[in-house]
Amino acid sequence: MTQQANSTSKTATAIAHPNIALSKYWGKQTFGHNLPAVPSLSLTLRGMQTKTSVTFDGALASDAFELNGQPAEGVVLQRVTQMLDRVRALGGSAERAHVVSSNDFPTASGLASSASAFAALATAATHALGLQLSRDVLSDLARRISVSAARSLFGGFVELRAGVPSDEALSANEVAGPDFWDVAIVVAVTREGAKDVGSSDGMKHTRDTSPYYKAWVDSAPATFTHLRAGLLERDLTKMGPAIEQSALSMHAGALAANPAILYFSGATVEVIHAVRKMRAGGLEGYLTIDAGPHVKVFTRGADAEKVAAYLASVPGVLRTITARPGAGATVVAG
Ligand code: PMV
Repeated sequence: MTQQANSTSKTATAIAHPNIALSKYWGKQTFGHNLPAVPSLSLTLRGMQTKTSVTFDGALASDAFELNGQPAEGVVLQRVTQMLDRVRALGGSAERAHVVSSNDFPTASGLASSASAFAALATAATHALGLQLSRDVLSDLARRISVSAARSLFGGFVELRAGVPSDEALSANEVAGPDFWDVAIVVAVTREGAKDVGSSDGMKHTRDTSPYYKAWVDSAPATFTHLRAGLLERDLTKMGPAIEQSALSMHAGALAANPAILYFSGATVEVIHAVRKMRAGGLEGYLTIDAGPHVKVFTRGADAEKVAAYLASVPGVLRTITARPGAGATVVAG
């Protein structure tokens, strides 16, 4: 890792893509800082992106954040400032920053916008201060604000192990690049607008109140290992059941929290049934669901259009988005 402060470069723009976990992260360790309790494995997606520009300016009295054309405040701004504080500490700067970010897909709705947001922010902010950090260090930085963001630093299939007490840093790493396998994720969008319970609150509530949380933490590593092996063999039929078990076990744990956390809408359940019917009809694809009502189907690249048409015909599906393996976060200007 090399760190270089360059006082003349104060602005930079980065893009990052969301990632969808095939083997889910849900729950933080009770020790350390923002360490995941279970391993996860995701696919970084092109076709959806966050673009973020950061400008450090000595004349600013506080950080300002504009998201999708609107000034953001409250918790959203606080998380941005937390990231900027870490970057300022690394770069030895006290300057406040103006951050402008936009997503070309629904924000905070279970489409992994926090992953691409904090991967792009970590990349742009460090670059703006002239810091040259490795992808590993940026991944660790992003993970401290949003665990899933650690994975969006990398392209293709990415893993993040569970945290252990001795971890001072924890970064994701690439398992296989974007060109490893011609696959796609088709998102069945079932609602526009923000979700009810954010993932951080949802997983904390699950850990604190769900009798199934321990079973989830105990069983997730074996699901992850099976899925990872299937991936390296490019074996969709082997990976598929583990993809669905990971997501549905995560939601079962959340449903058993007190009070229950229910991310599904009626259309979510319709799509679950439809995907089973689709497979029974010979079109192979496996579903996953995050902290929101959308259903994402992992399938072969050659079948993506057929899967998208199938999902679009399910009652309650507003539209579909087809995304293919993409690259890690990159600086585009500055
Ligand atoms: O790190 P967060 O707060 O974006 O949580 C991500 C949680 C899930 O999207 C449900 C699963 C995952 O591994 O991405």
